Amino acid sequence: MNWWKDLKGKVRQGELLKRHTTFKIGGPAKLFIEPLDRDDLKSLLTLKKRYKIPLLLIGAGSNILVSSKVINAVVVRLSSPFFKKISFCGNILEAGSGTLLRDAILAAARRGLSGGEFLAGIPGTLGGALVMNAGMGNSDFSIGDLVESIEAMDYHGKVIRLTKKDIKFGYRCSNLTKYIILSVRLRLARRTKRQAMGKIKEYWLCRRLVQDLSSPNAGCIFKNPPGYSAGRLIDSCGLKGRKAGGARISLKHANFILNDHQADSADVLRLMQLVGKQVKAKFKVNLEPEIKVWS
Ligand code: EPU
Repeated sequence: MNWWKDLKGKVRQGELLKRHTTFKIGGPAKLFIEPLDRDDLKSLLTLKKRYKIPLLLIGAGSNILVSSKVINAVVVRLSSPFFKKISFCGNILEAGSGTLLRDAILAAARRGLSGGEFLAGIPGTLGGALVMNAGMGNSDFSIGDLVESIEAMDYHGKVIRLTKKDIKFGYRCSNLTKYIILSVRLRLARRTKRQAMGKIKEYWLCRRLVQDLSSPNAGCIFKNPPGYSAGRLIDSCGLKGRKAGGARISLKHANFILNDHQADSADVLRLMQLVGKQVKAKFKVNLEPEIKVWS
């Protein structure tokens, strides 16, 4: 029975998720759905409830390791034009959760609005960045600091507006996981277009300098434990260059794992386990993954 036949957005069966992750790893999803708009998303949630369908949300797939086996769930991506609208009201940028961070900060800079430039070079969507409170380093700047309010849908299809008092942001985490974020209002500051563009370039170059983008990857694999740099700890264990199947720990930044040769999710997990064990043994520090793992 095709329970999804009345949905208006795109529906694909067996879509390979490696096409939708920056790691270029991920097996086929039972169903891959891009709802057309908010009502279509609501209809999907009603169907989810009626047929008890497991549902997983994916953004730009930049902070995730997806199993190379079949994903027995409906994978939902808010990537239709409805979820990518950007508008401005004074110093407020309002944008759909499917908007790429790059598009949001460039649109703001063109209007002489500044504040989100530190997000330059992070290949995520606004929705994903909000849920994990993406930012620079340990938390000098993070997207949560800019949030004025968020419009979200709960898993019963009810739309609510969350204001600052409802939202808790921490280092690479938030209390937003129980919602589907629809759009966000960010408060920015006036600058000249030239200044804002200059800052974007500065942050972008800074990231390019330290990050290893020579092969597909998912950015930093582990969070920085309080008072430490995960990259430095892994480096000090002499693990740079260590391989498992087609995956390898970067020689440039030890907290990066690269997909050199069609790596499997199991290859990456093997390296993550090795890293976790060795850092624990040498420094008595537990590393917590920053990336989400769909197994
Ligand atoms: N270091 C080493 N060896 C390494 C890597 C780093 O000794 O292999 C040292 C560096 O020399 C530096 C310190 O560790 O003294 C910190 O390194 P870095 O400046 O690269 O920052 P990081 O803490 O490793 C964080 C974010 C990155 C972000 C950079 C720059 C986390 C987990 N990582 O990295 O974000 O690009 O700051 O803002 O918070 C990501 O979240 O995916 C990510 C890549």
